[in-house]
Amino acid sequence: MGLSEAVPQRKPPSTHDAADDLRRLLSLDDMESVARTRLSEMAHAYFVGGAGDERTLGQNRSAWAEIDIWHRVLVDVSKRSTACTLFGRPSSMPILAAPTALHKLAHIEGECATARGCEAAGVPMVISSLASTAIEEIAAAARCPLLMQVYLGQDRALGRDLIARAEAAGFVGLQLTVDTPVWGLRHREITSGFHIPAGMDVVNLRGQDGGKSAQGVGIAQVLGWTISPSVTWKDLEWACGLTKLPVYAKGICRADDARRAVDAGARGIVVSNHGGRQLDGTPATVRALPGVVRAVDGRVPVLVDGGIRRGVDVLRAIAIGATAVQVGRPVLWGLACGGSAGVARCFEILREELDRAMALAGCADVASIQADLLQQG
Ligand code: FNR
Ligand code: LAC
Repeated sequence: MGLSEAVPQRKPPSTHDAADDLRRLLSLDDMESVARTRLSEMAHAYFVGGAGDERTLGQNRSAWAEIDIWHRVLVDVSKRSTACTLFGRPSSMPILAAPTALHKLAHIEGECATARGCEAAGVPMVISSLASTAIEEIAAAARCPLLMQVYLGQDRALGRDLIARAEAAGFVGLQLTVDTPVWGLRHREITSGFHIPAGMDVVNLRGQDGGKSAQGVGIAQVLGWTISPSVTWKDLEWACGLTKLPVYAKGICRADDARRAVDAGARGIVVSNHGGRQLDGTPATVRALPGVVRAVDGRVPVLVDGGIRRGVDVLRAIAIGATAVQVGRPVLWGLACGGSAGVARCFEILREELDRAMALAGCADVASIQADLLQQG
């Protein structure tokens, strides 16, 4: 399949209509429904899917909804703010775009459009190692704070190169993904015949192996060049020692692993199960979060991703002790619906929902979202 088949080529309606269409999307689920009609079957299968029976994928979302919020009444919430500081930079809210691969599958402008959407929304973006646009090009496209996601493979030169390029491009942090010794078993990718279409490539990994191109191959094969089952804590330590940028360990669910990551030099933890795409059966991230927060005990920030689809989920995560959350698939839905404006709309929906949830729970600012919201007073 060529790029023209893989990327939505439908002529965009006039700007006015497009903006109206986006405003009519009231929730991230609305956005997902429209995105589905814009994506090729193969791209949709790759984005939406999880591993195995998709048990973890489903629970990632449903488990947030099980957490009751014990709202406080008669608090003056006339002046409210969702703003916070992330990675030393002001952010409009405690949310980041999670690293996801191959944004050109969702929109022809790919990661540059995502970065512009993040800039408009005032949030940081984490760029995937498997981005379809060069790191430097994304950095030039927008001024949102950028982080680089890195996989460690057998070839340390690749990790070193990505980290050096992120430093040179003025990134604010790194996320080292630690939950990929091997690839999760994703049936949807197999049945949809997922492959990287002609005209698209994981451009940031080229040049490391004699200019091998990823065109036409499946993602599992690409990751085969990128990840390694022999990566251990020593490699995390090595990466942390390589850079002054804060390295977050992404993909941790266990309290003992979180402690160990901090001991190895990680300056933050991302509680994540890769959006249910790796081990099917591992707990929903909301169930993993409290143990990690307790284990880390304030030594470093804890982020969480997986199944966050509503502003109230963000409120729940912060009340449990997360510093911020990341959203993965919804950003891709926004991108498919309307490029940078679609990404901005995705975050606008989340910000409006978070703002309203905070008001109704009696929280005028992010600092006042505390654990007592999770208990009967
Ligand atoms: C991902 N994720 C991911 N993680 C990572 O560290 N590097 C990557 O390249 C990717 N690529 C990727 C592609 C796609 C299509 C998806 C859906 C996910 C995982 C991602 O960063 C994040 O952990 C989850 O997406 C969070 O779950 P939600 O918000 O999608 O439910
Ligand atoms: C994925 C890889 C790219 O989840 O992390 O598809």
